Amino acid sequence: MDNFLKNDWHVVAQSKDLQQGKILKARLLGEDLVLWRSGDEALAWQDRCPHRGASLARGWVKEDTVVCPYHGFAFNNSGHCVHVPAHPDQPPPKRSRACVQTFHVQERYGFVWVCLGTPQKDVPFFPEWEDSSNYQKFCFGPDRYLSSAPRALENFIDVNHIPYVHGGTLGQPEQAMMGEYKVEVNEDGIKVSEVNVWQVDPGLSGQEGKADSAGLHILRPFTVCLRRGSPERRLTIFFLITPVDEEECVAWRWMFLNEPQEVLENEFRGFVNTIISEDITAVESQRPKRLPLDLQAEFHLPSDRTTIAYRKWLKKLGVTFGTI
Ligand code: FES
Ligand SMILES: [Fe+2]
Repeated sequence: MDNFLKNDWHVVAQSKDLQQGKILKARLLGEDLVLWRSGDEALAWQDRCPHRGASLARGWVKEDTVVCPYHGFAFNNSGHCVHVPAHPDQPPPKRSRACVQTFHVQERYGFVWVCLGTPQKDVPFFPEWEDSSNYQKFCFGPDRYLSSAPRALENFIDVNHIPYVHGGTLGQPEQAMMGEYKVEVNEDGIKVSEVNVWQVDPGLSGQEGKADSAGLHILRPFTVCLRRGSPERRLTIFFLITPVDEEECVAWRWMFLNEPQEVLENEFRGFVNTIISEDITAVESQRPKRLPLDLQAEFHLPSDRTTIAYRKWLKKLGVTFGTI
């Protein structure tokens, strides 16, 4: 697996879904995981008992340990074996071979983040989180795509699909013309600015559409922040994708809105879920499911500058998972 993704942080669950006393399954970069809480602390382990390889996901939490359902061995919050029912009076083995493999975990922005390797950076920064008092906030996910994470991320940053994939919901085919916009690649990722794309106001579905200026900041291979509107009336989307397998991924998003009128939650969620399912249908139809990083594999037009920059950037970072 490529080191960049292995050493990066990825969302695997919403924090609220990781409850004390329960084991939650997740899958990241082709690795099955179990998540559980020791006190308040979130833990992520390989879903494999070191004794005979059974899945721990079918086990249970007992007295701050995870009990394997196969022979009942118990593992403490460091992954060490602390009890063997067949030999209750014998000290459990101390060797590393008798330990569950543990991974780095942290909780931020209401999500559980896991790094399978050695973290090289912190989780991506989401500045609106610090001062969120002006916003209405909605969290979405998990939204599953039977396609690769790079295809799903590319769909989010490719604004040219809006008039067609979302024709009649967010955009209109008659409003497909794309103007100029700026793309800048630096050590903070890819910044796309002054994108004018005709859309209805997502905060107030059914309103007249208009072309307002939006910006995208691609912070990590599968993390992007979209900001649209003015500082007084803004929509911010923090969009994250979990690369589950080469051809499967899960998306999560925070949507922060400051609209003059409060948005009705049910109406807003219904509207956004329609948009999400339109995207999933489009992405799952794309072949190959893995994103081609060779620019000769597909053809490009000036309006594809963002996605060209994204493919080149993934190649430069050495990202291979979910690409060809
Ligand atoms: S396989 Fe887990 S205790 Fe034996
Ligand atoms: Fe879309």
